[in-house]
Amino acid sequence: MKIFYNTKDIQTYLATQNSQSIGFVPTMGALHEGHISLIATARQKCHIVVVSIFINPTQFLASEDIEKYPSKLLADEKICRLAKVDVLFVPTVSQIYHKLETKLLAPSSKAYILEGIDRPGHFDGVLQVVLKLFHIVRPDFAFFGKKDAQQLYLVQNMVETYFLDITIVPCETVRETTGLAKSSRNSYLSSDDRTKADQISKSLKTAVKKVQAGEHSTELLKSIIKEKLANLSICYVEIVDKQFDSIDTIKPNDTIILVAVHVGKTRLIDNIWL
Ligand code: PAF
Repeated sequence: MKIFYNTKDIQTYLATQNSQSIGFVPTMGALHEGHISLIATARQKCHIVVVSIFINPTQFLASEDIEKYPSKLLADEKICRLAKVDVLFVPTVSQIYHKLETKLLAPSSKAYILEGIDRPGHFDGVLQVVLKLFHIVRPDFAFFGKKDAQQLYLVQNMVETYFLDITIVPCETVRETTGLAKSSRNSYLSSDDRTKADQISKSLKTAVKKVQAGEHSTELLKSIIKEKLANLSICYVEIVDKQFDSIDTIKPNDTIILVAVHVGKTRLIDNIWL
């Protein structure tokens, strides 16, 4: 596995790998089974697998403590070697950001809802860094988890609006045996928090069962989920179509049920696609 810390070096290296398909998995490190599954999908599909680890400052709000974001570079490097990653890119902030930045703005009607309510501007920062990474790595395929459904939608939308020749591959959420969606933030949970957090996927499963039994009213489904999450601090429970527009009734094959809660001090998200 080659490791690059410098933008020019990785670009020079990848430019010599012509005609080989490049699969890219952008991450902020603290890799877990969710990332490993993205890498495994990229490994199956592409000749060269590139992973980036970059804790992107522009997607954190001033009130969010970026310093507290878990950094596990040595372990991450080992995981990447085991997962047969070809190229690991670990740039510094000054490699990625310049003094005078041309800013990219995510469409506000889709970026300032749901996750964007608690984290206004977060997706502007995500798109800004993803676009930069796409230009550096020039992948044929890029792999994103369905767990970050709103991010996935906005990245896909950016690829279309900027005419980028990149196929975005949505990948399934990886879960613990209890159903809890894998997340770097799970490491903050105490065992008591974990028991509470298990309610999140259970509430989504209950909603799916109700839909299968014929309940299509999203208001009703949302209130069923909220009841199940009564012991947690709910940020939102929403049901949207795949364009992230709110819907009153379930659209078969075009519905995402999304939940965000605080368990103790930890904010967790999950969703299910119908
Ligand atoms: O999903 C993430 O880990 C980040 O938002 C991403 C896509 C790597 C951009 O910093």
